[in-house]
Amino acid sequence: MNNIIEAIQKRSSTRGYTAEPLTDAELNTLIQSGLQAPTAANRQEIHFTVLKGDNSLLKELEDEKNRLREIVNPPHNFYYEAPTVVIISADSTYKWGSLDAGIAVENMALAAEGLGLGNLIIGCIDDAIKGEKQEYFSNALHFPENYEYKIAIAFGHKAVTKEPHTYSEEVQVTRL
Ligand SMILES: Cc1cc2nc3c(=O)[nH]c(=O)nc-3n(C[C@H](O)[C@H](O)[C@H](O)COP(=O)(O)O)c2cc1C
Repeated sequence: MNNIIEAIQKRSSTRGYTAEPLTDAELNTLIQSGLQAPTAANRQEIHFTVLKGDNSLLKELEDEKNRLREIVNPPHNFYYEAPTVVIISADSTYKWGSLDAGIAVENMALAAEGLGLGNLIIGCIDDAIKGEKQEYFSNALHFPENYEYKIAIAFGHKAVTKEPHTYSEEVQVTRL
């Protein structure tokens, strides 16, 4: 089967990783897959902050998320101890920023699947990163000026596997 179709059909969210880090070649391929994504008017405005899983900023984001949600003993952190996390930001004033970020993150997710790596798209830090500590996190994560968090994605080797989600074409598709 065509590699791209296969990656689309086999991709699923990974919520458990081994400690094995990504190779430089794997990480470069993932970043390039984000950069290669189409953007409206080819503006290429999306920004990618690449973090190792032990970066203290991830712990700070986790703590802030849990504080806001009043979670005391979380069973796992928001990126499931993945060795690499990429935080995607875009111009908060640009109407296509969210869509461009979404397209970029899915390009990266499919590239990870193609490399045999697990990935998890992450939205749950939205409140934490845009809350009262927004300026701090934006600076610490080196977001360009006027940029805001849009989405994040974790990468690593799968310690657990999950079947792709099912769906209902009847509900979601109208063929006229
Ligand atoms: C915009 C977006 C935000 C998401 N945020 C999270 C998240 O914060 N935590 C999480 O575990 N999964 C998150 N997911 C993963 C979805 O839960 C997952 O894609 C969905 O359940 C379908 O499962 P699958 O990816 O295995 O096919 C997110 C997915 C998307 C597209």
